[in-house]
Amino acid sequence: MKIVMLGAPGAGKGTQADRIAEKFGIPHISTGDIFRANLREGTELGKKAKVYMDRGELVPDDLTCDLLIDRVSKEDCAEGYILDGFPRTIAQAEVLDRALKALNTAVDFAIDVEVPDEDIVTRMSGRRACPKCGATYHVKYMPSKIEDKCDKCGSDLILRDDDKPETVLKRLRVYHDQTQPLIDYYQKKGILHTVDGTKTPEAVFGSILAFLGKESV
Ligand code: AP5
Repeated sequence: MKIVMLGAPGAGKGTQADRIAEKFGIPHISTGDIFRANLREGTELGKKAKVYMDRGELVPDDLTCDLLIDRVSKEDCAEGYILDGFPRTIAQAEVLDRALKALNTAVDFAIDVEVPDEDIVTRMSGRRACPKCGATYHVKYMPSKIEDKCDKCGSDLILRDDDKPETVLKRLRVYHDQTQPLIDYYQKKGILHTVDGTKTPEAVFGSILAFLGKESV
């Protein structure tokens, strides 16, 4: 099963992708997480990507597409995967389609998590991320058990640099300009499913499972 997650920054793509990955036993592949891991490790890719991420802009395709196609070619992706944050432009979607077509396969589901812009800035300012393992929380909606400490690895949680309100507004503009056209792209292919991302994480997951064909949350 190959799934693409769509939605504005902070819509809850990563939160839902984690749950789907666990339920179906397939890898959750987030290009944002890959760039952040590279940054932590001090690689050239991480340093280059940071410049764009801090400005709220997309990392150029030449740094993104090969990396993603290489990742989905790994053995753990043989039974499928869930892509979170890729594709983000029509050009990226076409690269993915071409790579899959060469393997006689295609994306099965595109899931659009819909949240209005006015809710996004509030949501992002409350997000806390673990700089070590990448887990995310929300101070109000999904708090960690101990304040500002990661439940999984105990590290101190941080506000991501690109979650500051001015950068979030820029990311939203970039989303509407470059990523939202993908909704039409996947609608035309007949594989788009839209869910209301303003509901609780459990309710959103329930709506997703309903069309993915698994019953219990
Ligand atoms: P990336 O890391 O992919 O960021 P994003 O798409 O902007 O999405 P986020 O991770 O910010 O949010 P999300 O939708 O996953 O929400 P989450 O589940 O965390 O990309 C970062 C940057 O990397 C980009 O700006 C770009 O520069 C670069 N990049 C990445 N991929 C690229 C590509 N393909 N091409 C070019 N550049 C690329 O939830 C958000 C918060 O809300 C959390 O605190 C969560 O706890 C909470 N929450 C989640 N669900 C709910 C709910 N239902 N109700 C209440 N709160 C909720």
